[in-house]
Amino acid sequence: MKATATQKYNPYPRVDLPNRSWPSNIIDKAPQWCSVDLRDGNQALIQPMSLSKKLEMFELLVEIGFNEIEVGFPSASQVEFEFTRKLIEDDLVPDGVFLQVLTQAREHLIKKTFESIKGAKEVIVHVYNSTSTQQRDVVFHMGKQQIIDLAVNGARLVKEEAAKYPETTFRFQYSPESFTGTELDFSLEVCEAVMDVWEPDANNPAIINLPATVEMSTPNIYADQIEWFCTHMKNREAAIISLHTHNDRGCAVAATELALMAGAQRVEGTLFGNGERTGNVDLITLALNMFTQGVDPGLNIHDINHLIDVYERVNRIPVHIRHPYAGELVYTAFSGSHQDAINKGMAKYDSMEAGHWSVPYLPIDPTDVGRTYESIIRINSQSGKGGVAWVMEHDFGIKMPKEMHPDFGSIIQDLSDKKGKELKPKQIFNSFESNYLDIHHPYDLHTFHVMKRHSNKKEKLSFAEIEAVVEVAGEEKTITAKGNGPLDAFANAIKENITGPWTLCHYNEHALNTGSSSRAIAYIQVERTDGQKFWGAGTDTDIIIASVKALLSSLNRAAA
Ligand code: KIV
Ligand code: ZN
Repeated sequence: MKATATQKYNPYPRVDLPNRSWPSNIIDKAPQWCSVDLRDGNQALIQPMSLSKKLEMFELLVEIGFNEIEVGFPSASQVEFEFTRKLIEDDLVPDGVFLQVLTQAREHLIKKTFESIKGAKEVIVHVYNSTSTQQRDVVFHMGKQQIIDLAVNGARLVKEEAAKYPETTFRFQYSPESFTGTELDFSLEVCEAVMDVWEPDANNPAIINLPATVEMSTPNIYADQIEWFCTHMKNREAAIISLHTHNDRGCAVAATELALMAGAQRVEGTLFGNGERTGNVDLITLALNMFTQGVDPGLNIHDINHLIDVYERVNRIPVHIRHPYAGELVYTAFSGSHQDAINKGMAKYDSMEAGHWSVPYLPIDPTDVGRTYESIIRINSQSGKGGVAWVMEHDFGIKMPKEMHPDFGSIIQDLSDKKGKELKPKQIFNSFESNYLDIHHPYDLHTFHVMKRHSNKKEKLSFAEIEAVVEVAGEEKTITAKGNGPLDAFANAIKENITGPWTLCHYNEHALNTGSSSRAIAYIQVERTDGQKFWGAGTDTDIIIASVKALLSSLNRAAA
């Protein structure tokens, strides 16, 4: 970037608001939500939605719980006019859901807009004109009074037209478009002029929507503008102050949150932030941000994958893998230390009867939005033993003893280094099978019998004698021995007849599943006379056989 290029730009002016109160406020309740997916979202698509796609999106928005849905700009496009008619004529709008229609403040457009909503039960007529300095000078060549006249005439016509549709409950909405590019006192003057025409009151308030049509400043300045506006209005209780932010600087969510703290009551935006240029504010992120603060957003987002699915199909835009709350990778940890911390946090949370969510690196419980734990830990070459152990336990019920984690962790690290990509849980399990469960060389168990068994609780004595047939490098060998129990007897038989000395260092077992066909898994570590240690594992419906197999697995690995 050329050093001189910065001279092209002016810093955005600050608002003179010495006693601003919004920084001390919190968001403690959900705003009135309005989805503009079918209008602002749709008008920004490379390929706008077809009628059937619009219907699919409308159904989704109703399912999510939006009571106000901007369905289009019916006077500007025939498809939007027809879509609005279809919703009304086919009775597709549930009671309590207001259809919002956008129109410029021009006579023929307003009249056409009213034609589109004939027969509807509840409608918000949203009228706008641009008020910014730049648009006044560059686009419309109009002075301030002409802009006010345009807005007032539009407002008057909206009121007159509405009177012709007594079967419909109306709310009126006005937007000084490009509010963030307009002198604050002038935007207030225009809005008050419109309100003077509509004569709203606290029981029938007008919606005054203050758009960051282009996001031009840091979010605190937008919040200042909203607080200034709310505190300088002459008839505050007769207005619902609405926000409509775009994301040009990437701060639309923050700007909306601060502006809610500054007194706004309503938010317009889209699912996952679709919309003109960098998009409108993302309502899903906003709602889930509230949710993580213990505030009920009043929207059904418990199955975020379903929302993504419809959104991507209808808009033909993918949700980014890093998108807050929704992206494919946002509940996933690849780094070993993160995996370990998540593992410990989840174990603690699972062990508590009740309690607040507090798992490192996970600001939200993925199951609250319909995500499963399986996807939390994913394995690549940066992953640690903890992550591998987590996948084995959560996906396959295999709870390796902690001491075994480094052994299998390094096998998996080598494998993912070799493959150069992420390993799927099934590949990790296959590797466990081939490295521990399915190794039968040089020793393979053919038969195993416990010949005698005795235990005396009083004297704390137990005793067993076994006979086993083991294949050793292709040849069958029958071995017998005695020991404290069947495993000890088998270990003695192997040492005396086949391998020579070694030491058993670790033994662990657990059930793999329950019921009549329940299986068990045993883990054993042996130490060779040279001090090297080897882990093995074995599964069987009989726990004694599982442990014998685990012993042979570790000896096979020691012999390799
Ligand atoms: O961004 C904007 O200013 C708009 C208005 C029509 C509200 O979409
Ligand atoms: Zn917009």
